[in-house]
Amino acid sequence: MTHTLMDLPFHENALEPYISKETLQYHYGKHHAGYVNKLNGLIEGTVYADMELEEIVKKADGGIFNNGAQVYNHNFYFNGLCTKDTTSPSKELLSLFERDFASIEAFKEIFLETAAGLFGSGWVWLSMDESGSLVLESFSNAGNPLLSGHTPLLTCDVWEHAYYIDYRNARADYLEKWWELVNWDFVSANLAACTQ
Ligand code: FE2
Repeated sequence: MTHTLMDLPFHENALEPYISKETLQYHYGKHHAGYVNKLNGLIEGTVYADMELEEIVKKADGGIFNNGAQVYNHNFYFNGLCTKDTTSPSKELLSLFERDFASIEAFKEIFLETAAGLFGSGWVWLSMDESGSLVLESFSNAGNPLLSGHTPLLTCDVWEHAYYIDYRNARADYLEKWWELVNWDFVSANLAACTQ
């Protein structure tokens, strides 16, 4: 199967001024598209050629894992964004934040601290573990919770290409603004799907 670049669920200028149209033109239009193209080239004629993306991420290594996971992670990241102040967390999600992190404010603080402190390029995730607890995980490069057997709910991309045009080296400033653009409908729906 040929993997295709997802459609962005918003206009390229919908996240301005926090994430600019120019950033999206590079991040989505060049980087994300590049991972999709590289993945398609690498899997041709291999056992991965007919696998769904999630299966590739779970089974592959090397370049096929790196590019497949970057496609998966970016799909998750872009689907997890929306125009500021248009969504809010479900009651179920809020109660799990209270149970597992004390509050959504406490979760925000530890999530952004972890993202700011991740050395180099990588991803920070909120996911659900086998016991039904919310967990915060960070991974270098293309890592993601599927490899831990967890169900991903939300991710933040902390590769420099996600913020360098708008924020230069000020990752913490990007993270504060990213938080305001989280699509809580997407996160709440992911939670509902894994707790049914
Ligand atoms: Fe990225």
